[in-house]
Amino acid sequence: MERVIEESKSGRRPQMWVTASGKGGVGKTFVSSSLAISLTKLGHSVIVVDLDPTGANVHTALGQNPADVNLRHWFEGNKSLQEIVTPTPLPRLSFIQGLWDLWSPANISSEQLKRLIPELKSLRADYVIVDLGPGAVETHLELFRAADERIVITSPEPTSIEKTYRFLEAHICWTLKDTARPDVFNALLGTLRDHRNRKMKKPFSFRQYLKENDGFSVDHFESLGEKPIRLIVNSSRSQANIDLGHSIRSVCCKYYDLSLDYLGAIDFDNAVWQSIKNREPVLISQPFTPLAGQFVSICKHLIAPSELRAVG
Ligand SMILES: Nc1ncnc2c1ncn2[C@@H]1O[C@H](COP(=O)(O)OP(=O)(O)OP(=O)(O)O)[C@@H](O)[C@H]1O
Ligand SMILES: [Mg+2]
Repeated sequence: MERVIEESKSGRRPQMWVTASGKGGVGKTFVSSSLAISLTKLGHSVIVVDLDPTGANVHTALGQNPADVNLRHWFEGNKSLQEIVTPTPLPRLSFIQGLWDLWSPANISSEQLKRLIPELKSLRADYVIVDLGPGAVETHLELFRAADERIVITSPEPTSIEKTYRFLEAHICWTLKDTARPDVFNALLGTLRDHRNRKMKKPFSFRQYLKENDGFSVDHFESLGEKPIRLIVNSSRSQANIDLGHSIRSVCCKYYDLSLDYLGAIDFDNAVWQSIKNREPVLISQPFTPLAGQFVSICKHLIAPSELRAVG
């Protein structure tokens, strides 16, 4: 395919959205690719970046063949990120093929991450959507922290909910780690562990802990308040599933003092996996369903009103 890529019209750096989850298989890649398609329908140029080192499949979710150039070329130093952006037949939509021709474990070093993040933020598009693998590993936590929009995906299952809380706790600790001396940070972990083992009477409150203990130089929660973490409940089948997002938000507020913005639920729809099988994203094959509407509403909520464009 001819490499014709629609670039940012605004001239500003792209907004980087990162989707993450505690548990695997909850729909991160589906949500990332669907948010991307919805943004393009709103007139924006989007690059989806497959940064799941456990197995690339953004191309599959977008109904594309794996691209000739991929992240391996960047890791080997042969190409810039911009040079491995691959266009799709969908207007304004491109992707960066993940590692799919590497048979050894892909460990992204902190040095590589330090180079990768600024390059992601200088890609030529309105939005860069980074699709991560599951769990709170270092690469995921760093990319999540660096994002303009941090989006956590959970399914309504207890296994996923439990891992969502673990991911959020890991995110808080990861961001606090840099601001504290090792002994201060280890003391925090010790207290957290005591609470987990139910040795303490009161539930743990990060904000209270930071207030009462010296050594953390940044007010983490103030900055989170300005830009809350977003939550999506994917594969929802009932009102109880929809309400789950509100419960998770209350728990985070009560126990972590973490303001979480619940973006809403995405329906479970058999058309999702059927469309992946047919190699056409469901938002393209069925553009006027409630499912498509749910993604557009989320995008409209996340983008600034001044950025809402008529589709040309
Ligand atoms: N809303 C939905 N309705 C129906 N099926 C869905 C929905 N969301 C995701 N799926 C299906 O669930 C499966 C897993 O989705 P996906 O690959 O997006 O998860 P993931 O979180 O990216 O997984 P991994 O952690 O392995 O990267 C896919 O087969 C997809 O078709
Ligand atoms: Mg995935």
